[in-house]
Amino acid sequence: MYSTDGITRINASAAFGDMPWDRNIFGHFIEHFHTQIYGGIFDLGSPLSDENGFRMDVIEALRELRLPIMRWPGGNYVSDHHWYEAVGPSRIASYNKAWRVEEPNTFGTDEFIKWCELVGCEPYICTNGGNGTAEEMSNWVEYCNGHLKTRYAEQRRMNGSPEPFGVKFWGIGNESYGDWQIGAKTAAEWGPYVAESAKMMRAVDENIVLSAAAVPDAEWTLSLLKSAGRYLNLVSIHGYWDQIHQVEAPSDYLTAMMQTEKPARMIEETRHVIGAAGLTGKVRIAFDEWNLRGWHHPNGNSQDKIDARALNDVPTTYTMADAIFSAGFLNACLKNADIVAMANVAPSVNTRGPLFVHPQGIVRRTTFHAMKLYAEHIRERILATVTSAPALTHHGNTVSSVDALVSVDVDGATVTIINRDPEREADCAIDINGRELKGEWQGELLTAASPDDFNSIERPESVVPRTVTLIDDGGRYRVPPHSIVMLHMSATR
Ligand code: AHR
Repeated sequence: MYSTDGITRINASAAFGDMPWDRNIFGHFIEHFHTQIYGGIFDLGSPLSDENGFRMDVIEALRELRLPIMRWPGGNYVSDHHWYEAVGPSRIASYNKAWRVEEPNTFGTDEFIKWCELVGCEPYICTNGGNGTAEEMSNWVEYCNGHLKTRYAEQRRMNGSPEPFGVKFWGIGNESYGDWQIGAKTAAEWGPYVAESAKMMRAVDENIVLSAAAVPDAEWTLSLLKSAGRYLNLVSIHGYWDQIHQVEAPSDYLTAMMQTEKPARMIEETRHVIGAAGLTGKVRIAFDEWNLRGWHHPNGNSQDKIDARALNDVPTTYTMADAIFSAGFLNACLKNADIVAMANVAPSVNTRGPLFVHPQGIVRRTTFHAMKLYAEHIRERILATVTSAPALTHHGNTVSSVDALVSVDVDGATVTIINRDPEREADCAIDINGRELKGEWQGELLTAASPDDFNSIERPESVVPRTVTLIDDGGRYRVPPHSIVMLHMSATR
């Protein structure tokens, strides 16, 4: 468990596990909330946008992350979204009862598909499992994927897309278990509702990859899987750990670090529920909303409550805590890549996202740099990795001060080391497949002068990764405090 001699021991061995992983673990989520869509990825009036109104600087930045999949349009929003209101030549604004604001409907299915094509990512559409119906969901599948001369496929053609979009990934509902959701349902209602919706969606396109809203809770998810598990590929779970939805009071660095081991526990709990349903190997996990910090949107319709959503944009919120939490989250998914098929940072752009967008440009927040290191350097297979490190404690809570991951391919290995301690170096002994690591190794380091450093419009590159060379000192490597290190080992050396 925790080492007591101050040394961190990282042991990785293919003998204990050597598994491939799905790049959709590096996925994103974007919602019709505040400035994620309008003023985020889509801004018809901006000189930085193309003829479609897509911010091209945003697309280029997301291509840096090799964005594999984007979940859209919500989130709570989708539980009162009707897709047919946002297609075709005349777009009449709607009142969205989830977010209690006007939805212009000028960014709809056709715009989303075109945007995904420009980014080079898969679209993942979450359907309205709130006040929506099985009919509405399956008609959306026909609009996107229908190849016959039938009503909704013909509508798509009339809207300018003769060929089917071929949307592979679909979700049924968003958090329908929660009373905050428009059209929330009981566990007894949810299973049959999902079964009927899935049946109709598959009747339109039997090849879709289908998820449904779930939680690591037996009553809800076991009931869901008993009723609808045979139609599903994935169960969707969400996690926001710094719960500041109502009061914008972001946790400090050490408080945030105490949250870092909770995602792995959620994955394990969900794994057990899938196993209890007898669906291990058939149904996997889509962690399709995750972020250290909950979005800020205090309850209420008054303008001041709606305006408070701008507090999500305060740059000082997004420090090394966010980057280090996010790296640990990705480690948890990669270490469980046998059952985690997808994960989607929530959201991708603005609110709490890795990328902040303003009228004159973009800011790569600390989490952007962490996610880019993962997108660029995690190799094809994950070795089973056991880490014994000093404990990090705060206000009666304890986590390991270090989390590590070793990934390999035919060309070599990458050792990812996260040092959560805000003050102390990690003194690491590294053993890969029975060989103690020694010598000089190059890699990348993401850290900052302070754990509370951040990037902003004024200082967009205060926190950026840099190349690093680590040399062993008696077989041990020193990793700086509050940092993420990726060391690359060549197979030929
Ligand atoms: O705070 C944003 C909301 O968090 C998303 O819309 C929803 O899916 C989750 O509850």
